[in-house]
Amino acid sequence: MSTRCDRAPGWAQLQAHHDGEGRGFDLRRAFAADAGRFAAFSQEAPHLFADLSKNLIDAPTEALLIKLARECGLEAHRDAMFAGQHINSTEDRAVLHTLLRSPAATPEVLQTLDAMLAYAEQVRSDHTITDVVNIGIGGSDLGPQMAVLALDEFVAPGKRFHFVSNVDGHELAGVLKGLAPEHTLFLIASKTFTTAETMTNALSAKRWFEQSGSVDVARHFAALTTNVEAAKQFGIDTTFGFWDWVGGRYSLWSAIGLPIALAIGGEGFKRLLAGAHAMDEHFRTAPLERNLPVRLGLLDVWYRNFHRFTTRSIAPYHSALKRLPAYLQQLEMESNGKQVDIDGKPLPYGTSPVLWGEPGTNGQHAYFQMLHQGTDVTPLEFVAVRDASHDLEGHHAKLLANCIAQAQALMVGKADAGGHRNFPGNRPSTFFVFEKLTPEALGAFLAMYEHRVFTSGALWGINSFDQWGVELGKVLAKDIELRLASGDASGLDASTAGLLSRLRQN
Ligand code: F6P
Repeated sequence: MSTRCDRAPGWAQLQAHHDGEGRGFDLRRAFAADAGRFAAFSQEAPHLFADLSKNLIDAPTEALLIKLARECGLEAHRDAMFAGQHINSTEDRAVLHTLLRSPAATPEVLQTLDAMLAYAEQVRSDHTITDVVNIGIGGSDLGPQMAVLALDEFVAPGKRFHFVSNVDGHELAGVLKGLAPEHTLFLIASKTFTTAETMTNALSAKRWFEQSGSVDVARHFAALTTNVEAAKQFGIDTTFGFWDWVGGRYSLWSAIGLPIALAIGGEGFKRLLAGAHAMDEHFRTAPLERNLPVRLGLLDVWYRNFHRFTTRSIAPYHSALKRLPAYLQQLEMESNGKQVDIDGKPLPYGTSPVLWGEPGTNGQHAYFQMLHQGTDVTPLEFVAVRDASHDLEGHHAKLLANCIAQAQALMVGKADAGGHRNFPGNRPSTFFVFEKLTPEALGAFLAMYEHRVFTSGALWGINSFDQWGVELGKVLAKDIELRLASGDASGLDASTAGLLSRLRQN
């Protein structure tokens, strides 16, 4: 990235626009004044339609944002990523998850994909395996778990999928309770094969398996990792590898996606990759003005740095997408939750917003009150799917009606002299539409989100591909674990020492 956003001329121009003609911008007036607003601020992208028209932007705002992106060198940075340059500078790594879904990937990538999909087919036709347990955390859990749920309609019957991530033994114990070792396949998913939670769960699963007298570890355990050596030392011979240029939160397209391939089959997995690739091509080639991930990433900068909104909410109106918010939280907040620029210098502006959400309509009966009448403005994102995959009468029309109506209500509001019933309106939202929740549509949506996070991160001048912020807690937990055993509280602050003594077992 050549220029940090606050050092480009467009930054001050956007500030002036925000404080000047942008002040008092009102969505209702904007629609009344411009019959072409919906067309101008909505767009088709591969497998996805997006309506951005209910956002606090007008044509001059978008033009300034795009000018800023050009001044910052967004296109060159994007091309550097696709070309495999080491844009993850703090780890000296390329960022090439897009290669995993490219038909023109390297022979090594394609061979690994073939091997993984052949294995998936073999397990799918092995009817003695009824339960698949994925043991992994973060990127080695959230993506596969979210996608297996999302694509439930395409999941072949006959196998149950379980996801164990937490080091909390209640989770693994709860899953193991319902399993028979001879019918279970454990997938140990860890990029590094060192993550404490995953190693602890993997060891307990292996112990449980061996204690039952079933000893065919080779048939019942497989590892998905870049650290094949460590997996072998752990005693797992069936391994599917990937590479250091695949970040954990960008890894569902790699061997980490094996649970997805087991669930929806090799062809289904290829459809997921194809959808993502179509979005990659859109991001790589569409002009910035009609480039959906770019427009969204710039909107995120506009909201975070000029409107100073600190959170964004997402409401998928499809119950199969219930883990989507959790998945996107890691993608966005682990990528862009940074306080220094690429050179390690403190940033004078905000970066990642807090991303949060629940499926609609549930959220409507919980926190939407705050979205409509709270003191803070929270941009909301709706995800709607036109075609249902069930035939229960009336449900889907009600669901979609609620989704459209909420976006409408947030914008139009309702004046009431009484105060308590007053809806201020002018509250921004973005509306995504899938025709159907297919593997292609999901792949395209997730790739769109990755590139959107790339765009805001690029303008902010940060490294969106490292995560040093998770390290300190890991190190301290090791120390505290020893102290929990010994009771030694020396050198600790009073609160930590107090909690240690409260939580120590007798
Ligand atoms: O601690 C954070 C993190 O490194 C994530 O970035 C990653 O997705 C997760 O832990 C799991 O890591 P691994 O796949 O190496 O077990």
